[in-house]
Amino acid sequence: MVPRLAGYRRVELKTPAQVSAMRASGLVTAAALEKVKHLLVPGARAREIDAAAEQVIRAAGAAPNFLGYDGYPASICLSLNDVVVHGIPSDQVLRSGDIVSVDCGAVLDGWHSDAAITVVVGQTDARSEVLVEVTRQALWDGIAAFAKADRVGQIGEAIEASVEAAEPSFGIAREYTGHGIGSAMHMEPDVLNFASRYHGPKVRPGMVLAIEPIVVEGRIETSVDSDGWTVRTVDGKRAAHWEHTVARTAGGIWVLTAADGGADELAARGITPAPIA
Ligand code: MF3
Ligand code: CO
Repeated sequence: MVPRLAGYRRVELKTPAQVSAMRASGLVTAAALEKVKHLLVPGARAREIDAAAEQVIRAAGAAPNFLGYDGYPASICLSLNDVVVHGIPSDQVLRSGDIVSVDCGAVLDGWHSDAAITVVVGQTDARSEVLVEVTRQALWDGIAAFAKADRVGQIGEAIEASVEAAEPSFGIAREYTGHGIGSAMHMEPDVLNFASRYHGPKVRPGMVLAIEPIVVEGRIETSVDSDGWTVRTVDGKRAAHWEHTVARTAGGIWVLTAADGGADELAARGITPAPIA
């Protein structure tokens, strides 16, 4: 979403029972993305990928929360190559070597979840792999920071440090941020993907955030197409985007949109996720 830098407004804190309800929503989004992952092959059509995601979401008794959001016409965002985020799935056909991000969300019993993956379609190459992997690592470094953070701003510090440490050097698309999530998809606070003097609100148990770094090969400036949604890099270079919905609880963190709650990736960072029953 677009940052508002509003500072210190009300952040919705969830009870353990509400975090559990959000986990159920998160697992629906995870299942939809798991399905989509296998469909990202050369020749696949964006519209069909959107339909497959919607089907998984509805079969679980949930609804796609993107559909109709500010008039958005689909259940997923499908962003190819120089499209940074918010690409609308339509007649696009995937080709080998494309970098494609799929962003997806669900609402179940009134609770929202939101997650995104980026993959290289078909034949991959070292440069594309690095862009995708640097972004994925930045997400997990941000998630790991959330486990220990006193302020939401520390997540962005960790994401920026993670991207800065990468070779070759990439940029962070600063015009879009992560966000609080819960009874609505986009809530307070903004979750920046870079360090800022705006340190953000205090981290508290019951806080649930969508953490979503966006990394670009070239210049960080973007523009929006005349459809009002599709965000592109101005220099035509490519972008990658990864996202998870993550709860901070009394016991630690729990990655609601990861089937294993983040256990695998967090173990490498010395963190054990803390599920709520
Ligand atoms: N996950 C996206 C975000 O946080 C939501 C896409 S906007 C929508 O920016 F309209 F597609 F829902
Ligand atoms: Co989001």
